[in-house]
Amino acid sequence: MKLIDYGVREDEKKYIQEWSKENKIEVTIVTDLLTPETVEMAKGYDGVVAYQQLPYDEKIFDKMNEYGIHVISLRNVGVDNVPVEALKRNNIRLTNVPSYSPEAIAEYSVTGLMALLRNLKHMIRKVDDHNFKWEPDIGRELNELTVGVAGTGRIGRAAIKIYQGFGAKVIAFDKFHNPEIEKEGLYVDSLDTLLKQADVVTLHIPSLGKGNTVINRQSIAEMKDDAIVINTARGDLINTQDLYDAVAEGKLYGAVLDVYENEVGIFNSDLSDQEFSDNLLEKVVKSPRFILTPHIAFYTTKAVKNMATVSLNSMVDELKTGKSENEIDLEK
Ligand code: COI
Repeated sequence: MKLIDYGVREDEKKYIQEWSKENKIEVTIVTDLLTPETVEMAKGYDGVVAYQQLPYDEKIFDKMNEYGIHVISLRNVGVDNVPVEALKRNNIRLTNVPSYSPEAIAEYSVTGLMALLRNLKHMIRKVDDHNFKWEPDIGRELNELTVGVAGTGRIGRAAIKIYQGFGAKVIAFDKFHNPEIEKEGLYVDSLDTLLKQADVVTLHIPSLGKGNTVINRQSIAEMKDDAIVINTARGDLINTQDLYDAVAEGKLYGAVLDVYENEVGIFNSDLSDQEFSDNLLEKVVKSPRFILTPHIAFYTTKAVKNMATVSLNSMVDELKTGKSENEIDLEK
């Protein structure tokens, strides 16, 4: 068996190499992303592993079919950049890594929130300038707040435990009820109710498709004054302009954004020596009421190791048995 792994960053290499040695399976590491051009390197391989934020071009899958490759394993969880129809017509199966570390993302949600509640961004900027004054950065306490967790999958459930540990009141919403969360009586009847009742809304749901935002001018109007939004899920869940305006106007307190609707090509790139043309993002970056990070909630050693190795294990299962526990149902 011969595998090829695309879009591999430096920090992932050692985990892939260790896996290859332990499992005695050849894995060719490619730093390039998977494109209609680079897929040609996969000729002669049995399976393709990849991670990238850019959309996967349909032509990649036509070529994989031509080369007799019928499995692609992603090293991440989100499959919103995969053209499902192209996979189906080429008879290609898809796996992801659904649970590389729900805790990494849940912990990041509270990390960002604490930074915002204690005004750390502004305070650190002031101290950098030798301004050691307290005012105006008086903090708020998490134990006094109601946290609304939207989405009670693995990440949402990990977030609930952490927020409860801080003494916050937690409410939750999901279309699918988890029995444990149900037993605790945390579910409210709709997302609207959650938005109305929560002081902090933390999003742990997948993308609903472009244009289908959860946080926008209308929903913000229903939210409590001084509420906070946290997004470690997908940028297109939020109309960022509406959110920015609501914070600037003083309707909302602020937001923790680890994802952004136009992040592709910006996040995980060093643009420090270039002219920056995204004016909205520039305003968000400058605002002390926004904790903005470049999609790093997942980025821990535990998660990166799991992404590298679980994707390869799923590929082996697919190639040996025709299925894997991480195979995505393309009909859903
Ligand atoms: C995912 O796993 O889909 C993520 O959002 C994290 C990614 C940046 C590796």
